[in-house]
Amino acid sequence: MANEIAGERGAFTSQAQQSWMLPSRYYTDADIQEREVEAIFKCSWVKVGHVCDIKEPGDYLTETIAGQPVMAVRGRDGEVRAFYNVCQHRGHVLLKGRGKLKMGITCPYHAWLYDFEGTLKNARLTDDVPDFDTSLFGLKPLPLAISGGLVFVNLSPAAEPFEIGYEGFDATIGEHLDGMENYTRIASLEYDIAADWKVVVDNFSEGYHIPVAHPQLSTLYNTAQGSAVHGELFSHFRNSGHAAYQGMQLDENEPYLGWTLWPNLCMLSLPGSKNLIALRMDPAGMGRCHERVDVYGEVDPDRPENVEELLKLFAEIFNQEDIALVESVQRGLSSDGYDHGRYIVDRADSWFSESGLHKFHTRVLHALGDLA
Ligand code: FES
Ligand SMILES: [Fe+2]
Repeated sequence: MANEIAGERGAFTSQAQQSWMLPSRYYTDADIQEREVEAIFKCSWVKVGHVCDIKEPGDYLTETIAGQPVMAVRGRDGEVRAFYNVCQHRGHVLLKGRGKLKMGITCPYHAWLYDFEGTLKNARLTDDVPDFDTSLFGLKPLPLAISGGLVFVNLSPAAEPFEIGYEGFDATIGEHLDGMENYTRIASLEYDIAADWKVVVDNFSEGYHIPVAHPQLSTLYNTAQGSAVHGELFSHFRNSGHAAYQGMQLDENEPYLGWTLWPNLCMLSLPGSKNLIALRMDPAGMGRCHERVDVYGEVDPDRPENVEELLKLFAEIFNQEDIALVESVQRGLSSDGYDHGRYIVDRADSWFSESGLHKFHTRVLHALGDLA
């Protein structure tokens, strides 16, 4: 394991001020992408939903992490559990989408029935099968964590508890988004993007581009620097909204908040309503990713138009601007005319510089075992 990562013009080092950026091969090399599956996606906490998706016993959600079908189900005891979404008879995928179970989980192939807690309750025509023991065929469980109202699953049975790397994350949610567990899902959006998942996270990790590339969004916050909190596996920044923004009824200084959670979750909460916009990026082939966005919130009866304006601002304006940016960067990263630049960091380590980008790249290199 090395202390630095060499590129064409210099080396990536642990000091953002001195370091050259992650060399472009990290975004274009099939071998690195393959290593990321095992080293990152199969052993990190990945967001699969929000508690509003699984409020009652029998409510479930499904997701795919690193190609693995998973589910989370609320049991009769009120506990939420995660399992591989795979039948233990012949491997048929059990559940689709999100929904509410009545009796239990019935496999669509040969109707094996599991209860909400993953125990096999009934397997047809097994009376003549010697030593058939239903207790050996429960669903395969996975580590699950709920924090700040969000539901996370980890594909590694040896996962460190969520609270270790993300200590303090739930407080950053609780402090600003009171009653978040009572939010509902207002919208879900999906995008196929011609850029590596890290390019999208990179873009979200720095506010340096916002005044240039998002003219409308940049009128929504006050230009004072704001503040940032960095945990081991997450970063949080806080700014305040600008009441002069056109299209929403705003008070001056409503919070304008952002989070990045290792590895692939980026979130924003904009002024004007109680809301959380959560973006999850999954690799989808070389130089491509799938972005899944869930918008959670509460509609304020006194200013319902703010939520509509929020969705318009996100879906029609600044997310489109970001997609154009990251796709252009991916083309540049694949070009022979570029390997890497320098991090533009300020002494305050602020979100309007690229210090969050350097932190993210450090985590990538550590996870891959490339940097000591
Ligand atoms: S594969 Fe599920 S019951 Fe046969
Ligand atoms: Fe952006």
